[in-house]
Order: sequence, then structure tokens, then C-alpha cells
Amino acid sequence: MSPRVQTFVFLFIWFSCQVSAVTFHQLPSRIVTESSEVHINCSHDDSSLIIMLWYQQKQDNTALTLIGFGYEMSENYEGQFEEQFKLTRRSATEGALMIKKANQSHSAVYFCAASMTNSGANEAYFGGGTKLTVLETGQPVTPPTVKIFPPSAKECRNKKDDIRKKTLVCVASGFYPDHVSVSWEKNGNGVKDGVATDSAAKRTPDKTYRITSRLRVPADDYNKLGNTFKCIVSFYNGTENVLRHASIKSIQGKSEGGMTKEKYLKHLQNAKLSYGVLIVKSCIYGAFIGFLVWKLQSSARKYS
Ligand SMILES: *[C@@H]1O[C@H](CO)[C@@H](O)[C@H](O)[C@H]1NC(C)=O
Ligand SMILES: *[C@@H]1O[C@H](CO)[C@@H](O)[C@H](O)[C@H]1NC(C)=O
Ligand SMILES: *[C@@H]1O[C@H](CO)[C@@H](O)[C@H](O)[C@H]1NC(C)=O
Repeated sequence: MSPRVQTFVFLFIWFSCQVSAVTFHQLPSRIVTESSEVHINCSHDDSSLIIMLWYQQKQDNTALTLIGFGYEMSENYEGQFEEQFKLTRRSATEGALMIKKANQSHSAVYFCAASMTNSGANEAYFGGGTKLTVLETGQPVTPPTVKIFPPSAKECRNKKDDIRKKTLVCVASGFYPDHVSVSWEKNGNGVKDGVATDSAAKRTPDKTYRITSRLRVPADDYNKLGNTFKCIVSFYNGTENVLRHASIKSIQGKSEGGMTKEKYLKHLQNAKLSYGVLIVKSCIYGAFIGFLVWKLQSSARKYS
């Protein structure tokens, strides 16, 4: 092996080990009431990472803001955060972020991270984040209502699609707060291909949330007799994940794409052919009867 390849192999192994080195435990979801004291726990399994850092992410896909970091015996805060938060530490690998008096402004995702030094020379490892919702007063925790809608008739007539596809639409609505995830099943098996779910639930005028997910499947798959498509919504209600679902079953012939145009034309052609044969047959039969009658009449005339 050339030195270059050796270096590459070394770096590759080192990097792979680094990536899988630390395992974090952070609850994915928390729902708390206004004015409460909240502890967001974090633990990991690498005692050489003596610094624990906490970050706040206010909205999906936005930057993380550092709240503060701490060694086992001391804490450091970023300016405005000091009066609202407190970093606590039980050991090198266990700590918590405490919110002294939670209000609406604290609803966010909190990421715990760990590093060997604070110099930036060592990378920080991140936990999966805890999504925290501080409940609005007077807004009850409500699980979603789930509905599934069959493909629209318009889509079936779209001849531009060279592979004909159908889109099933699943809508979960009326829930609060927005701790949900949507998944799909076909005949009891998980489906990932062709799924597109809104990146975040949207607030509606009645103050509840709504989220939409779409599943695109080949038309043949949708039309196949007995195929069942199910949309499952998992909602976290503060103590556990509550499941709600809706499903749709293909009924061939009855479901709107059951008889294709090609099939219909073929049926029509077969019918025409049978009818034609019938007409020809009755013509021949008619001619034969006519011939018999003429023959009988002429022989009767001869006889008389
Ligand atoms: C956080 O950790 C403390 C100490 O281990 C424990 O008493 C508490 O129940 C934990 N809280 C949650 C929400 O897991
Ligand atoms: C929430 O708490 C923070 C800090 O304690 C305070 O600055 C802010 O005004 C509060 N917001 C509301 C809506 O009460
Ligand atoms: C969450 O769901 C469980 C099981 O359905 C139920 O027992 C519990 O009361 C619910 N909690 C809230 C806050 O709705």
C-alpha cells in the first residue's frame, strides 16, 4: 500500500469510529405547562467528553443557538440566556438543561452536545434533540382525526404520465400540540417509496394543527383487488404516543380505474363480433327457410 492509500484507509477507519463513537439519550418529545420548572435530561456513554453544551432551535431547519456549556463543576452562559436557564450536571456523562419558569418563548427543540475541549479543536457530538412544547393556556391536548382520500379522477386521465401513477392523500387535523409523525403501510408492510409528507404541521384558524402526506403508487398497484393502503399518524400526548389511522381498499371494477379504456374497447369489439356472427347466422337461416318455403310452394304447384 502506498503511504497515500494508507493515510486514506487510516482516516476512513478513524472517521467511521468517530461517527459511531458516542451514543446519546435524549427524550424526543416533552410537553409541559406554562410557568413550570422544566428539566431536559441528557446522557451519553463517553466519559472523555467532559464538556456538555446546550443548543436551542426555534424553528425546523433554522440555525442552532448556543445557550451555554459546562464542565462538571462550572457553567458558562451566552448573555441573554443566563436568567432563564440553568445547566446542571450529575456526572461527566449525565446532565440537564433547566428552564426556570417555562413560557411560550421556550417552545423549541433543545440539542445536547458533548466535546473534549471548548477550543473548537475537537468536534462536538450531538444528541437527537428534545422537542419541547409549553402548552398554551386554554388549549387542550387533542389527538388528530385522520382521513384518507382516493386518487382524483383527473389524475387517471393524465396521459402524459408514461407510467400511470395514483396519489393517495392522507390528512391529519384537529390536533394540538404538533408532536406527530406520519407513516404508510401497504397490506400491513411499511412503505417509504413515493411518500411525501409536509415538513411541518400548519396552524389553522381554530388554533389546532393540520398535516398532509401523499403516497404515489403505480395505478396497477392501486387497482389490484384487495390491496389495502393505510396511513398511520403517531401523536405524542405528553405521556405516550397515541396512534390514529385510516385506510383504503381497492375494489376492482368498482374503484374508478377498475376497467381501463383498453379493456372496455376490447369488450366492445368482442360484443360487436358476436353480434355480427349472430346476424350472419340468422341471415343464412332466413335464406334457408325462404328456400324451403319456395321449394315447398313450387312442388305444391307442380302437384296440383
Ligand atoms: C431526569 O433525570 C432525573 C434524574 O435522573 C430524573 O429524576 C427525572 O425523572 C428525569 N426526567 C425526565 C423527564 O426524564
Ligand atoms: C418568557 O420568559 C422570558 C424570560 O424569562 C421573558 O423575557 C419573556 O418576556 C416571556 N415571554 C412571555 C410571552 O411571557
Ligand atoms: C395520553 O394517552 C393515554 C392513552 O390513550 C391516556 O391514558 C392519557 O390520559 C393521555 N394523556 C393526555 C394528556 O391526554
